[in-house]
Amino acid sequence: MLRTLVMDVVCLLIPVDLLGLLKWRSNTSLLQQNLRQLMKVDGGEVVKFLQDTLDALFNIMMENSDSDTFDTLVFDALVFIIGLIADRKFQHFNPVLETYIRKHFSATLAYTKLTKVLKNYVENAEKLTEQLLMAMKALEYIFKFIVRSRVLFNQ
Ligand SMILES: *[C@@H]1O[C@H](CO)[C@@H](O)[C@H](O)[C@H]1NC(C)=O
Repeated sequence: MLRTLVMDVVCLLIPVDLLGLLKWRSNTSLLQQNLRQLMKVDGGEVVKFLQDTLDALFNIMMENSDSDTFDTLVFDALVFIIGLIADRKFQHFNPVLETYIRKHFSATLAYTKLTKVLKNYVENAEKLTEQLLMAMKALEYIFKFIVRSRVLFNQ
């Protein structure tokens, strides 16, 4: 009872565009829309819910592991989040992201999907200048996710 009430109150504090993504399971036909909307949410709100947002992204990726429909969007959302944290304003969230990758992240198959999208961006470098540029800036963390995922897979 109390837990439900607390969750309801917490939900009231989350911007509606972010809430859509965090509660993506409640209507999966809105998934693409939810992923696109994340990239319009105020950065301060996203970093406040960093762990939940990253969990949602990797759950979406893993629960659709037999298709690559959402892979590019999830990858772009990840690049967006890493981009936020690279911003001086949110730099103090760097350790939160590091800890997430080391302790919390558990998507063993993410490395294949992240690598595939990255490869695709590189191969289409002339067409996708903007996305590739953003991905390059996020590369350090993208690689940390890829390496961690691969290590988890091997275990
Ligand atoms: C899910 O979203 C679609 C598109 O907006 C809508 O047509 C459908 O009724 C929604 N389903 C539920 C269960 O809310």
